Amino acid sequence: MEKKIYIETYGCQMNFSDSEIVASIITEKNYTSSDKAEDADIIFLNTCSIRENAEQKVFNRLKQLQHLRKNKPGLVLGVLGCMAERLKTSLLEEKEMGMRVDMVVGPDSYRDLPQLLLDVENGQKAVNVILSSEETYADITPVRYASNGVSAFISIMRGCENFCTYCVVPFTRGKERSRKPESIINEAKGLFRDGYREITLLGQNVNSYHWQDEQSGKAWSFPALMEAVALIDPALRIRFATSHPKDMSDELLQIIALHPNICMAIHLPAQSGSSNVLKKMNRKYTREDYMDRIHAIRRILPGCAISTDLIAGFCGETEEDHQQTLSLMHEVGFDFAFMFKYSERPGTLAAKKLADDVPEKVKSRRLQEIIDLQNELSLKSNQADVGKEFEVLIEGTSKKSEKRVSGRNSQNKVVVFDNNKDFKPGDYAKVKITACSSATLQGEYVEG
Ligand code: 5AD
Ligand code: SF4
Repeated sequence: MEKKIYIETYGCQMNFSDSEIVASIITEKNYTSSDKAEDADIIFLNTCSIRENAEQKVFNRLKQLQHLRKNKPGLVLGVLGCMAERLKTSLLEEKEMGMRVDMVVGPDSYRDLPQLLLDVENGQKAVNVILSSEETYADITPVRYASNGVSAFISIMRGCENFCTYCVVPFTRGKERSRKPESIINEAKGLFRDGYREITLLGQNVNSYHWQDEQSGKAWSFPALMEAVALIDPALRIRFATSHPKDMSDELLQIIALHPNICMAIHLPAQSGSSNVLKKMNRKYTREDYMDRIHAIRRILPGCAISTDLIAGFCGETEEDHQQTLSLMHEVGFDFAFMFKYSERPGTLAAKKLADDVPEKVKSRRLQEIIDLQNELSLKSNQADVGKEFEVLIEGTSKKSEKRVSGRNSQNKVVVFDNNKDFKPGDYAKVKITACSSATLQGEYVEG
């Protein structure tokens, strides 16, 4: 009998993309996928280690899932992804953990899953947390089991070697490596043929994408790759994430300017507005360098949305440093931001060398100030769009009303409007913005 497998994904887009690779590897081998943990024989949690609360969420979920063993003694519970890589065999220590985990599989070992499942069936605990300097899963066609049929991720590179001092990623995802361009372009072509209309090229640090073709000697940079994907069809939108400010070249911005189907939205994590803090974070740029990149975006791509990541309360952050983060936010006028409290991660350079000395209360207050300011900035940015027209790629019906559809404009803003034209997911519509909140734009369809 075919066994049913259920995958639950936590964390970043890369993890969601990896889960599609896992689904592909597994369903080729006599397993079928299930969309409910309760129905499954095998449950995988694809996990995230970026902050302590991300790990806590997974521990709670693992504990909660244990009761399913009562009705299903053969249930296999596997931890995949960054927590598997970080915590390794300690996850299998039943006494210490206060629960049972059967499998631990790191992000570079998914090809080994069918064998590891056999090992578990034979009564062994299964572990593979070996990191690779080559694995890109280039030949695996992801199974898009949770997709809206319109937008898809394509992973173009893996790993990170930037070693920002706060970040656990270089330890859990290993060395940076790029995927063969042909396999990326073919995957994008296949998605377009299947009706997809938006592709996000994914990597921890996409601007350092690099591929040297052994036979022809031809070198591929990220701008070249993006251009090749953009040329597949003008109706296929291209996005990318995430970029490191130190590698955001004018050449890349010029390629975006040249192709209307490359979206006008750049995610450029600043982390802090203080050069002192940036230095302690090992970000390799100053506030001025960051602003120089912002000015380049404004110059080459007028109308481009800019979003960011910010960390409140990093080691040694003073009130003045925090004020500089707020002033950077004002100066750039971010359209959107992901905002976090600093969370010390064991094994990172910050954990080893810097004191986590900003009191919890102060971190919380600073984070709240950052969030409040971003809400104002997002509202302002949306208000400035009222009266403008945008091309919207429709993703589905609006959550609030069946009669309305929801999609995104090139700037990655959610736009909701009346479906008075029998629009389907994947259709493009020209929409005039009539109202907004800090989170969404409301509009109406305009002919032409
Ligand atoms: N604490 C808080 N936020 C972190 N990030 C990465 N590591 C940490 C940490 N230890 C944030 C950064 C990064 C985003 C993915 O997560 O802002 O850009
Ligand atoms: Fe972490 Fe820095 Fe790499 Fe991003 S660039 S994954 S923040 S080490």
